[in-house]
Amino acid sequence: MLDDTFLLDAFTVRLGDIMDVEPDALHALSLSVGWPHRAEDWQLLREVGQGVVALDSIGRVYGSAMWFPFGDDFATVGMVITPPRLQANGGGLWLMRHALARTQGRSLGLHATEAAHRLCLSLGFVDERTVYQCQGEATMPPDVVPPAKAEVRDLRPSDFAALCELDRRARGADRANLLASLVARSRGIVLCREGNLEAVALCRPFGRGSVVGPVIAATDEDAIAVVLPLVTEHAGTFLRIDTGQMEGDFARFVVLCGLPVYDTLTQMSFGRPWVPEAAGAHVIYALASHTTG
Ligand SMILES: CC(C)(COP(=O)(O)OP(=O)(O)OC[C@H]1O[C@@H](n2cnc3c(N)ncnc32)[C@H](O)[C@@H]1OP(=O)(O)O)[C@@H](O)C(=O)NCCC(=O)NCCS
Repeated sequence: MLDDTFLLDAFTVRLGDIMDVEPDALHALSLSVGWPHRAEDWQLLREVGQGVVALDSIGRVYGSAMWFPFGDDFATVGMVITPPRLQANGGGLWLMRHALARTQGRSLGLHATEAAHRLCLSLGFVDERTVYQCQGEATMPPDVVPPAKAEVRDLRPSDFAALCELDRRARGADRANLLASLVARSRGIVLCREGNLEAVALCRPFGRGSVVGPVIAATDEDAIAVVLPLVTEHAGTFLRIDTGQMEGDFARFVVLCGLPVYDTLTQMSFGRPWVPEAAGAHVIYALASHTTG
């Protein structure tokens, strides 16, 4: 039986709902571990996910864990945080167990930081691949030859259904709710051939600047074509892109845009893998966020 209270160091914390907490308190929590999220970034996550927090007797926040149900059988877990002063007291495990209890029956995906990796392994998650957090002050992208017979243009509201379908095929889960929240905050670029949407990249304000993601495409060439206008627009400002690609033209392009690898994470799963075996040709070139994949 999972307890709703926990002795964290010298005092007892109780479980609360993340929706009942002021965004500023969550912002302070993520700042304490050096994460760049603004209160607005937490707000987006609360729009599409659910979560628990650890609260002391006067309602101060001492930890968080969130989960994001996508479709009937999959969810991602993230925003698992305990303040540095209180780490290594079992609080992270307690919060994770509550997140797992609330997502029981679903396959799970997460992106583990180095600090969380052993904790996740101990809970039965398995490693899938490395994800590279690339960031820096964006430079003007190098000249590239545009893909043949393709139209590259801004995302339109009428593209939304095709965007959701592309994402579902690449991610193996229905993420329409997440995509609606992202599109409302993002500039989007699509690549079409004969009227069919074949690649997409979104870019929105996040943390210290902006983040490019998700990026979905079938080839490096198409992925570059949709990311290029977004990097051009943000040249001279702080930009981030989280990608599983470390070799090939897309990875080289990211570095040439002034976005070197800043950190790595481990993509992990519990139950079925992130992308089912039967997945099609389109892949996720860049994540919407570590938390949602
Ligand atoms: C990752 C994170 C949430 C872990 O939180 P935590 O409160 O330290 O977690 P726990 O205390 O449950 O477990 C952490 C370690 O302390 C150990 N530990 C737990 N209780 C302990 C105790 N009473 N005494 C000594 N060690 C203890 C655990 O065995 C674990 O060791 P391991 O990592 O070597 O396996 C925390 O480090 C954090 O917020 N990091 C920054 C944000 C982050 O990276 N989040 C993860 C996103 S995926």
